[in-house]
Amino acid sequence: MKTIVTYGTFDLYHVGHVRLLKRLKALGDRLVVGLSTDEFNQVKKKKVIIPFAERKEILLSCQYVDDVFPENCWEQKREDLLREKADIFAIGDDWAGKFDDLGDIAEVLYLPRTKDISTTELKTVLSELSREKVQEIRNVSSHLLELASKL
Ligand code: CTP
Repeated sequence: MKTIVTYGTFDLYHVGHVRLLKRLKALGDRLVVGLSTDEFNQVKKKKVIIPFAERKEILLSCQYVDDVFPENCWEQKREDLLREKADIFAIGDDWAGKFDDLGDIAEVLYLPRTKDISTTELKTVLSELSREKVQEIRNVSSHLLELASKL
């Protein structure tokens, strides 16, 4: 039984997440995800849209994920890897070199990210959409005011 452990926020679950999880699972038999809690995301200065319980539910519905535990702080990784009997610690290469110190207890791998998609980008698209919507509402209301002034 070969166990892989990874970490992340997995907010607004997207195809970059799916492809990473698929490649991680292919490295062994059991894939366990340390999912950043809402509180830890505040520490990381990340504003999450989907709350922890729902991000967890989504991850557990993924065919590549076997288990999820909460990631509450930066320092817990060594303890987690030992508890989960991890053979591999792997994460996207936006973290390349950052966790090499865990190499004494597990193989440490950094996998290439899927290009052109990220939660940050999705959040930008969503906020542009809501800006457009606000502008649309402003246009309609100023048109209505104009009509009303002619009555
Ligand atoms: N990931 C990936 N390809 C992407 C986006 C994310 O392989 N296009 C990987 C990350 O490298 C990480 C995991 O998915 O190992 C979880 O990443 P997370 O930070 O939750 O997702 P991002 O979309 O990168 O979110 P953000 O833009 O907020 O950093």
